Amino acid sequence: MGNHRHHRRATEEKRVTIVASTDSETEPGTDSPATWGKRDDMIVRARSPYNAEPPAAVLASSDITPVEAFYARNHGAIPDIAAQQWRLQVSGCVDTPLTLTYDQLRHEFEQHEVVATLACAGNRRAEMLRVQPIPGKEPWEHGAISTARWGGVRLADFLQAAGTQHSEGLHVAFEAPDVAPEARPVQTYGSSIPLSKAMSSEVLLAWQMNSEPLPPAHGGPVRVVVPGYVGARSVKWITAVTVQPGPSENYFQARDYRILPPEADPDSVTSGEGIALSSLTLSCDILDPTDGDHVPPGALTIRGYGLAGDGRSVERIDVSVDDGLTWQQAVLQSPASAWSWRPWSLTVDVESGPLHIIARAWDDTGALQPESVASLWNPRGYGNNAWARAALCVQ
Ligand code: MTE
Repeated sequence: MGNHRHHRRATEEKRVTIVASTDSETEPGTDSPATWGKRDDMIVRARSPYNAEPPAAVLASSDITPVEAFYARNHGAIPDIAAQQWRLQVSGCVDTPLTLTYDQLRHEFEQHEVVATLACAGNRRAEMLRVQPIPGKEPWEHGAISTARWGGVRLADFLQAAGTQHSEGLHVAFEAPDVAPEARPVQTYGSSIPLSKAMSSEVLLAWQMNSEPLPPAHGGPVRVVVPGYVGARSVKWITAVTVQPGPSENYFQARDYRILPPEADPDSVTSGEGIALSSLTLSCDILDPTDGDHVPPGALTIRGYGLAGDGRSVERIDVSVDDGLTWQQAVLQSPASAWSWRPWSLTVDVESGPLHIIARAWDDTGALQPESVASLWNPRGYGNNAWARAALCVQ
């Protein structure tokens, strides 16, 4: 997405300290666990558990997001797990239940890399909040999405080694040790994906992020990366994998990461109610400039990304600077992989006065993003993939 702004280079990344997060840590800006090696200008949504997103213009400045700018979404305290202590168990519908060490995982399986965008289901919730309030949920703006080069082994190879059975309709559940106080009842984080997705070549047990050891804040020593699915399924600090007949009963799979009808009361929904979020939906966003920016008259370069659903591709981004009367096609970059966002840009000439920019994406099936955020509003504020809008002032 170009390096048009001053931003810190990846080589200046702070090293992550391997200590569990607590409220008592020092203030952001110091090299402490409270910042988890992140940039000083991260928008911190919660300090404990640590939740933060980068400013949109920072995201726009690189196709692969440096670790120091990558958003962090945590439902519990970040656990401190030494690689040598870590174990991964697989059980359930397998012929040979296994327990593997970190060294076994790294050396007994072929290594692979996948560039993949992780997107939180709550990304762009802030726009939904303007339609109707959503109490108790983080008001993520544009930055609960980032792209990394993930390195590890294929989950499929690991499942194969355990002799996973291949009956129709099986699911693969993931367990992690971090305890989520918001869950009802309070429990550790977990989720699941269908076995058919788990066996695809892009799904990794990853221990590397941008060619460095996976930092604790992002699931180190080992996490699952499920490209093409909402970030919630990419379980961090993975410790157990179960092949089972149905989806995970974990709170975050069975009750939380679901689209509920607008009139539903999220506090009284039962397990399995609503639509479980899985494949990403077609979306795009404007990252630079954004709402409220002031820009000088003349040439203005607008930058953003498009992201298609599981296995599909972004084919066109239309941009309007006259409230949708006319549309111009943005210049699309090649995506880094089939699982990565597709950066785009467009340079337009702007005159003094208010400016409304709209962007919308089309995919390879001819599908277009939904126009209005109001039509997508849901009680937990998930899945906002409405047309992207930015209102700014040219002066
Ligand atoms: N895994 C565990 N164990 N605990 C969590 O809280 N959060 C999930 C997912 N995996 C989570 C987790 C959510 S909601 C998202 S969007 C991604 O991790 C965020 O990954 P990141 O923090 O590396 O950006």
